[in-house]
Amino acid sequence: MNISVMGTGNMGKALVKQLATHSEGQILWGSRNPGEAARLAKEFQLGNIMTCSYEDALQADLIIPAFHVPILVEWALAYKEQLKGKIVVDISNPFNNDYSDFTTPWGESSAENIQALLPDSTVLGAFKNTFFKVVEEPVFQDQISDVLVTGDDEVAVQQFLEHFKPLPFRFIHAGKLVNNRTIERFTLLELELAVRYNTYPYISLQLFGIKDTLPIS
Ligand SMILES: NC(=O)c1ccc[n+]([C@@H]2O[C@H](COP(=O)([O-])OP(=O)(O)OC[C@H]3O[C@@H](n4cnc5c(N)ncnc54)[C@H](OP(=O)(O)O)[C@@H]3O)[C@@H](O)[C@H]2O)c1
Repeated sequence: MNISVMGTGNMGKALVKQLATHSEGQILWGSRNPGEAARLAKEFQLGNIMTCSYEDALQADLIIPAFHVPILVEWALAYKEQLKGKIVVDISNPFNNDYSDFTTPWGESSAENIQALLPDSTVLGAFKNTFFKVVEEPVFQDQISDVLVTGDDEVAVQQFLEHFKPLPFRFIHAGKLVNNRTIERFTLLELELAVRYNTYPYISLQLFGIKDTLPIS
């Protein structure tokens, strides 16, 4: 399975570093400025990365657009045709500009909204509770960060879990896309807690009591 990451922001960089280090195969890294992505790949000493335009990054089978929600929505509308049949991993949290609230009403989530915009693609949710510093450094005091993975297509969820297994996270099958109504809102509480306890932007989830995430059902 070919994977692409779109964007050289905080999450794009952190995800590309992990994928380039731990997964097999070449990762496409799309940017408005592929030259800057290439410079970053060199700075981070990442080998199996091919930097490219956003259009070229659409060639992958599994695409992670690391965009903020308004850009993500524009992108989904613009590339709906090219995204047919692809797995789109939504990492977005629909916060307002001052991170005090959400742009989605109760009873909606960004992941479900993106799936509605891309009915012929398979949208998964992942990495929403994992702040970018944790994506870079997922182990803290011998605890590994959890990553909640959601999707309505069970085959695609299992494909994701299989391909991302080498990455240093504990991936948890967190059910259907509807659960992102909770997952996305929980991220804002994490942000508040990280600020209160002076760990921002280093915070994530580690659920107590789950001994073995395999077999996953
Ligand atoms: N930051 C976190 O800790 C965190 C944690 C979990 C989830 N998330 C989610 O991850 C997504 C990305 O967050 P982030 O913190 O990585 O954002 P960010 O640092 O602001 O990066 C966003 C990237 O989007 C790309 N982009 C494409 N079109 C753009 C446009 N018209 N204007 C501005 N940027 C454009 C840019 O990459 P190029 O310049 O390469 O095109 C930019 O670097 C958000 O949906 C957020 O909710 C973030």
